[in-house]
Amino acid sequence: MNVLVIGSGGREHAIVDALSRSAQVAKIYCAPGNVGIARQAECIAIRETEIERLLDFARETQVDLTVVGPEAALAVGIVDAFRAAGLRIFGPTKAAARIESSKEFAKELMSRYGIPTAAYRTFGDYEEARAYVAEQGAPIVLKYDGLAAGKGVVVAQTLEEADAALRDMLLDDKFGDGRVVIEECLTGPEFSFMCFVSGRKVWPMVLAQDHKRAYDGDCGPNTGGMGAYSPLPFITPEDERFALEHIMQPTAAALVAEGCPFTGVLYGGLMKTPQGIKVIEFNARFGDPETEVVLPRLASDIVDIFCAVADGGDAELRWHDFATLGIVLASKGYPGSYEKGVEIKGLDTAEDTVYHMGTRADGDRVVTSGGRVLFVLGRGATLAEAHAKALAAVARIDCDGLFHRTDIGWQALKK
Ligand code: AMP
Ligand code: GLY
Repeated sequence: MNVLVIGSGGREHAIVDALSRSAQVAKIYCAPGNVGIARQAECIAIRETEIERLLDFARETQVDLTVVGPEAALAVGIVDAFRAAGLRIFGPTKAAARIESSKEFAKELMSRYGIPTAAYRTFGDYEEARAYVAEQGAPIVLKYDGLAAGKGVVVAQTLEEADAALRDMLLDDKFGDGRVVIEECLTGPEFSFMCFVSGRKVWPMVLAQDHKRAYDGDCGPNTGGMGAYSPLPFITPEDERFALEHIMQPTAAALVAEGCPFTGVLYGGLMKTPQGIKVIEFNARFGDPETEVVLPRLASDIVDIFCAVADGGDAELRWHDFATLGIVLASKGYPGSYEKGVEIKGLDTAEDTVYHMGTRADGDRVVTSGGRVLFVLGRGATLAEAHAKALAAVARIDCDGLFHRTDIGWQALKK
């Protein structure tokens, strides 16, 4: 089979890596890809949202399966366009992807179908929102309703902080002309539950945990994710069964009932609160960096799963027992402004454990080209061993412009 992967980050590198382990794959293309992906796939210079050009490429090159990584491509309807052209594609339609692209859609769906989540109300008017926040008190959570590159969520510890966020979102339209979902603030460990979904069928993946804050001790600003690991010792098999049976399966069934059946990866961002497991958010795609620790544990042929989801067939998922833990190397300054084009050396010494997130070639050098630059993976019989291996691999990479967290996995590793 010829397979096309859409996207250019660590998630797509991990997908390409999983595809390259399949005996069914003849050729892998990636649009636009990156310099690390280029070692395992042919990179095509088409951006992820250029649907017409991607369609032409898939037709001309006789691509048998297209796999979509990023939400931006889903939100502009890439799956709808490929399906209309009779091409097989893995990912949800634009209507189903609203579970991620519209927080209001997701919250309404959950409340209608009894799926556990934080209590909420939605506002378009600043004064009304402010009055509601004053009545509820702090801490309180404010979410801009729309794609805001992970920066549209504020967990306000004080009323002043909440008011500043409401002004940004509703008066100054910093993210766009949207509405705001105001939520009760939940507490407890967070975890990511990704499932392959095809209509009512749900195949759970192993659990992972991301680390959203930039610095050790979960301090500093929110980021796209600074590291991840799998499995999670603090989530019991009963928790996992609850999340599958009371959250992921009913959500898949609800989307069928609403006339927008989901196909692709449904990502549950869940929290284990003192009142039970609740949904923080849904995503309509593989998580990044969770995918980089989950797919290396997949023992089944991923092509069988992608095709079963896209075609409505059956598949079986088997997993390796080993643990995975990965550390993001990010540009100094990220998630604020940062320098690009800094040379990275020592990649060859750690080649099989590194997924590229934001790199590019500059002659025969590899240089930084994004906020999150590399994902360095460790594998081991235990999480502690995987952590030690990842840190050792990080130490072999030589680049002046990068920083990383040293405490990835602390919730699982603490004594
Ligand atoms: P989201 O983009 O919805 O995942 O939100 C980003 C982060 O904000 C989450 O990973 C949580 O750490 C935090 N968060 C979001 N909603 C809540 C909530 N209702 N209670 C507490 N923390 C939240
Ligand atoms: N790691 C969080 C996300 O992919 O949205």
